[in-house]
Amino acid sequence: MKLVGISGSLRKGSFNTALLHAAVGLAPEGVDLIAATIHGVPLYDADVETADGIPAKVQELKELVAGADGLILFTPEYNNSIPGVFKNAIDWMTRPSADIARIFGARPVAVLGASPGNFGTILSQSAWLPVLRTLGTDPWFGGRLMVSRAGMVFDADGRITDEKVSRNLAAFIDGFASFVASRQGR
Ligand code: FNR
Repeated sequence: MKLVGISGSLRKGSFNTALLHAAVGLAPEGVDLIAATIHGVPLYDADVETADGIPAKVQELKELVAGADGLILFTPEYNNSIPGVFKNAIDWMTRPSADIARIFGARPVAVLGASPGNFGTILSQSAWLPVLRTLGTDPWFGGRLMVSRAGMVFDADGRITDEKVSRNLAAFIDGFASFVASRQGR
């Protein structure tokens, strides 16, 4: 099974990118989780799209998702919602709109996130729901993971030092992989 995880942060020391990398290492046997980033995605501009088409980086992300059995969004939270850079990347990936069904339609999607605050991205995770619905995805609601107080969860190299978070992350990926398999009648 092939899963793609996208981190919605550009920051080198991103907690969400660290969470994604930890998830890659915790994926169960038979599950290949590929880590993707939104680096190189320009700001969406319809004039650029008309003149030049879909940027190479966006096309690359689209094909990565199209070739995966499931997608996992590792979302930060800004002002109680989705960070603009992450929404911008997904918006680009929905262009041209005729391609939405191929990239997102009926595709299993999970959302999780990490923040230094007490609520661990709960509001940005919820803010993704109308987006996932409008794209016709198959969202997984069987598990939740809000990594709060992230400053105390990762070491300076981005490794998880909190055993409970590590266990919860492994269970989350495992649960999503089972969901994806059930959707494929495996
Ligand atoms: C934040 N942060 C934040 N955190 C949170 O839990 N709820 C929030 O509403 C916000 N709002 C917010 C707005 C803006 C503009 C910034 C820059 C930051 C803090 C945020 O969670 C923190 O910067 C994380 O480290 C971002 O995720 P990465 O980059 O570590 O993955």
